[in-house]
Amino acid sequence: MTTAPSSSPIPVAVLVSGGGTNLQALLDAFRASTLARIARVVSSRAGARALERARRAGVPTMVLRDPDDADELVSALGDARLAVLAGYLKRVPPAAVARFRWRLINIHPALLPDFGGRGMYGRRVHEAVLSSGARASGATVHYVDEEFDRGPIIAQWPVPVQVGDTPESLAARVLEVEHRLLPLVVEELARRGVPEGPVRLSLRDSTFGIGDKLDENLLQDG
Ligand code: GRF
Repeated sequence: MTTAPSSSPIPVAVLVSGGGTNLQALLDAFRASTLARIARVVSSRAGARALERARRAGVPTMVLRDPDDADELVSALGDARLAVLAGYLKRVPPAAVARFRWRLINIHPALLPDFGGRGMYGRRVHEAVLSSGARASGATVHYVDEEFDRGPIIAQWPVPVQVGDTPESLAARVLEVEHRLLPLVVEELARRGVPEGPVRLSLRDSTFGIGDKLDENLLQDG
């Protein structure tokens, strides 16, 4: 069964633990959207800078008492049709994953299935990419399932690894495409009414790095 796209913007919850630059990209992208609105921001940490970004945008926030408590998490997500992990560093408890099957997505700063898994976050991801000798890295948006960074991939945006890259320079290049890919995926899922099964998208104009291209229609099936 497919869900017809609704006429009012779908409520989206964003889960955060840190700085929240991906959250900011979502807040900016959907400020006036008819497809999706950032309805709430849920943090695993009281001190997360992301919370400030949400407050500044007038979005309700909540700090989890115990991120391992599935009931608390599900109730924090409220009526969200889609929940987005954007720099959320805690494991989502399996009971919450089950409640949000195909409605819970994550962004990861590498081309999964490589360079993911428990403990692979932040600088460590980029260090691992550089020491592997990989020629490309990038951003991946995928469904969250019971294992870290293992759920089906929705979309990826590659960037080149350059000679002389440091973990910081590579992280910055990847982050730039994260900020474009995540809103695109959220928009596309919202446009489709957040389907009850997995969606796989690819960049229409597959390109290394960022072009000056329009952001519209950048994703297609496949
Ligand atoms: C991003 O690189 C994201 O891919 C990863 O954590 C980082 C969060 O950055 N999951 P921010 O909090 O969105 O600035």
